[in-house]
Amino acid sequence: MTAVGGLQARSLGVTFTDRDGRSFQALSEVGAQFGPGALTAIVGPSGSGKSTLLHALAGIVLPQQGEVACGDVVVNRLAERQRDAWRLANCGMVFQDFRLLDELDALGNAVLPAQFDRWRSNAALRTRAQDLLARFEVPLRSGPVARLSRGEQQRVALARALLLDPPLILADEPTASLDADNGQRIAQELRALAAAGKTVVAVTHDDKLVALADRVLTLRAGRLQ
Ligand SMILES: Nc1ncnc2c1ncn2[C@@H]1O[C@H](COP(=O)(O)OP(=O)(O)OP(=O)(O)O)[C@@H](O)[C@H]1O
Ligand SMILES: [Mg+2]
Repeated sequence: MTAVGGLQARSLGVTFTDRDGRSFQALSEVGAQFGPGALTAIVGPSGSGKSTLLHALAGIVLPQQGEVACGDVVVNRLAERQRDAWRLANCGMVFQDFRLLDELDALGNAVLPAQFDRWRSNAALRTRAQDLLARFEVPLRSGPVARLSRGEQQRVALARALLLDPPLILADEPTASLDADNGQRIAQELRALAAAGKTVVAVTHDDKLVALADRVLTLRAGRLQ
């Protein structure tokens, strides 16, 4: 299951229901093609559904309407285990809240996906994790990752996302905690990944990242403008 053709969102609708049974439409009729080789920026006000869209593209949030297609695979129709396997093989995710394991150190976090990879040796992936952390200038300190700065943690999250060299990179505000220089560098990394043929989708408020995007999609109240 490789994502040679990128990703397609077809008329996606996502509704959340709160504990009192009130429902809220977070995405409505979102259709977009995310092709290999392109860096797409998704912008829009807070609460407009950007993270929800990214999570729907990764099969983390399941739409009530429409579908997410990756080649012949309709991601939202896969059973949960198949969806998890598809995501592991295809998606590098950078979450808005990082989702690092606080008690592990930077390398421990960056190398985490290796334990689910049956094909590559752990030693090779450990070296790759070290290389990625060095490239993003994360200090190689032992001790809990929670002690690193937010910007350092953000770069650990990016290293983890890239560990298995996924064809799809879905990044939620990947430069939000970075200073101007680091933000620029990470934006250029994402640009280079797209140039190398990856499908890169980045939710962002960052003008530097938007400037490097091939295309900018704007969400407002769950709809693409
Ligand atoms: N699991 C959930 N359950 C209920 N409502 C949710 C859930 N996830 C998101 N929402 C709601 O859906 C809307 C869109 O949320 P989302 O996180 O996608 O916004 P966003 O554009 O990423 O905002 P921000 O820029 O602040 O990160 C918000 O009103 C949010 O409260
Ligand atoms: Mg968000």
